[in-house]
Amino acid sequence: MSLIEQIKLLTDKQLPKHIAIIMDGNGRWAKSQGLERVHGHQQGVLSVRSTIEGAGEAGIRFLTLYAFSTENWNRPKFEIDALIALLVQTIHLEKENLMKNRVRLQTIGDIASLPAHCQEQLSQITRDTRDNTGLTVILALSYSGRWELAHALKNMIRDINEGTLCPEQISQEKIPHYLCTRDMPDPDILIRTGGDYRISNFLLWQIAYTELFFVPAMWPDFRKEHLWNIILDFSKRQRRFGKTGEQVEHEI
Ligand code: IPE
Ligand code: IPE
Ligand code: MG
Repeated sequence: MSLIEQIKLLTDKQLPKHIAIIMDGNGRWAKSQGLERVHGHQQGVLSVRSTIEGAGEAGIRFLTLYAFSTENWNRPKFEIDALIALLVQTIHLEKENLMKNRVRLQTIGDIASLPAHCQEQLSQITRDTRDNTGLTVILALSYSGRWELAHALKNMIRDINEGTLCPEQISQEKIPHYLCTRDMPDPDILIRTGGDYRISNFLLWQIAYTELFFVPAMWPDFRKEHLWNIILDFSKRQRRFGKTGEQVEHEI
């Protein structure tokens, strides 16, 4: 049976709703081919396309892609400029494909820190794809978990000062309403390509109970089949959320 046929047999509970990916290894991939780092980013676009298609075909609801971190602003200016130019160009070229596949595109992060033309294009594509009913793709841009938590804290204090939030109301259930991810479930799966074992400031609050997958493939080599294998692996894991294995087995 093919990978996708096996996925189609999974129950609702076995199928992840939200997959998040740290797309790492573009630079090393390029170096290994004797190319400049920027070529790795360009090649990575093909992986993004394949992964979006694969997630849609598998029936995933949310796919969050870490495309540019707060700390990535510390890279050489020419690399930052190339990444932003690639983002703008890719959105332009992929729009038709996104519409055809009914993909809804959203962003999280400090979008106001991006160049104006890039912000405009992002809000345009967000608007154009708003009513699509397929997979929701969330691009994390100028994003970091610590930035998000600081931002949430500032907004909570603002609401307290304005009298719309009481300090007593602050709880584990309330805090997610102040995060960029307020409209989506926490990721069931977090994938990091590129062979490193770290989180690099991604979705710190949201990954409390996420299943982690670290894969050796560099991002430009990642394809939908890698994603499908991970989904099948996930479906065999027992998520206990602090309970005992026996308790979980007896839950329906
Ligand atoms: C990930 O690939 C893409 C971004 C961080 C924008 P890298 O550019 O980090 O590639 P490596 O990790 O240096 O190989
Ligand atoms: C993480 O990759 C950020 C993105 C994939 C956008 P990095 O390459 O920036 O992470 P570190 O520096 O290896 O931790
Ligand atoms: Mg990297």
